[in-house]
Amino acid sequence: MKTIIQNYPNLDEARKRQKTPTNFIETNFNIDCFNRWFEDKTYFIRTYGCQANVRDEETMAGMLNAAGATRVDAENEADIIIINTCAVRENAEDKVYGQIGNLKSIVAKSRRVIALCGCMVEQPEILKKVMDTYPYVQLFFGTHEINQLLQLIYEVSQTQSRIVDVQSKPGEVIEGLPCQRTHPYKAYVDIMYGCDKFCTYCIVPYTRGKERSRRFSDIINECKKLVEQNYQEITLLGQNVNAYGKDLDEKKDFADLLEEVAKLGIPRLRFMTSHPWNFTTRMIDVIAKYDNIMKFIHLPVQSGSDEILKKMGRRYSRQDYLDLVELMRQKIPNLALSTDIIVGFPNESEEQFAQTLDLVDRVKYDSAFTFIYSPRKGTPAANLKDDVTYETKAKRFKTLVEHLEISISASSENMVGKVYPVLVDTVSKTNANMLSGYAENNKLIHFAGPIDLIGKIVNVRVKESHTYSLIGELCHE
Ligand code: 5AD
Ligand code: SF4
Repeated sequence: MKTIIQNYPNLDEARKRQKTPTNFIETNFNIDCFNRWFEDKTYFIRTYGCQANVRDEETMAGMLNAAGATRVDAENEADIIIINTCAVRENAEDKVYGQIGNLKSIVAKSRRVIALCGCMVEQPEILKKVMDTYPYVQLFFGTHEINQLLQLIYEVSQTQSRIVDVQSKPGEVIEGLPCQRTHPYKAYVDIMYGCDKFCTYCIVPYTRGKERSRRFSDIINECKKLVEQNYQEITLLGQNVNAYGKDLDEKKDFADLLEEVAKLGIPRLRFMTSHPWNFTTRMIDVIAKYDNIMKFIHLPVQSGSDEILKKMGRRYSRQDYLDLVELMRQKIPNLALSTDIIVGFPNESEEQFAQTLDLVDRVKYDSAFTFIYSPRKGTPAANLKDDVTYETKAKRFKTLVEHLEISISASSENMVGKVYPVLVDTVSKTNANMLSGYAENNKLIHFAGPIDLIGKIVNVRVKESHTYSLIGELCHE
């Protein structure tokens, strides 16, 4: 099979940040040119990783639906298979290797277009590895080429070639692409793309380009439509939402945006992710002011040690973080806090790890995501020599989880006997008679109730608490 390399990624290019204004592209979404090729095709998409990837999947599904293709739930029924990848840690990549490996058995049976996209293919060495190992993957495109999806699939099918189109560039803001939302009542809304923070361990600024904000009016219009369509929850998405608007001509920041969206009357408004650096008092005041802004903040700390924070390039000290948490708690009663923590950053000492445990004990998080440091080729931290063994890291990881579980359990315990509005999400995975949904503080509650409550906000009294979930009963009064 011939390989056509239209663009190949390059980490030096990906690292570049120019002070040039963001390029806005209005898509005139035109599907006529594909000779109705998509109309009798089926497609399957599997997404790994963060909410940004989930939102990208919704765009790809929207484009394929608009072209007439039909979504299926099983790979072997699909003419087009898209694997949307994550590169943030090695175990995310390993899952993708497993998935692509599994596809081998079904490719032999018939001709399909198998595509790999997302953050993994943005890394030159990984792209080479997957191209060499999996000859049946015919299409590779990056986070900047999603708008080219139909064109690329069509080209592969017509030329029977392998196509690689992965540009390393700052990226644009593309408006007007269709979107097939995953949920009928909960929506993700991108407010910005990319990241300029370059934390020394993180690959995201290389895979997703520069920080660039969508125009204020485009976001508001999208949210207005969601309110009209009776959506119950909007989550505003960005790698670092505090940076919203810094690159725009109009003088709007994240506090302005949050306030304006809250005023549209969506029942629940969430946002993620917030960097602790540059989280302004005005943002806190807006969160406190509007009842429909959920009193839940995901505030990744990464480490409790000043030395490690510095080596990570996080731009705040442990005290800055603790002061910010105190201010948030002062101004926002009943605030629930969650975080991300990395253990085993290169050469992390026992003392530095103890600082993380101490911070965790002080903040008393309601929930948390914990990770063992995973070197990402191309990032500065990956070049550091590391004298900490994996066993030590794994042991620290376990200790950290034990510390976190104390406050996580206590905050769940504290909910017992009280009534919480819950946005009903699904039938419980473990018990078909139970519904599940999230309270304002993002805790998952299971309770018995009729299936037609899915998508509604109902009052639930919490009866029992477990570390990571709660059991409640529907309040009928
Ligand atoms: N190793 C481990 N965890 C990482 N994260 C990002 N990069 C790495 C890495 N190289 C974690 C951070 C971030 C979350 C999304 O993933 O905690 O906040
Ligand atoms: Fe990665 Fe840091 Fe940007 Fe988050 S803020 S995406 S951890 S570089």
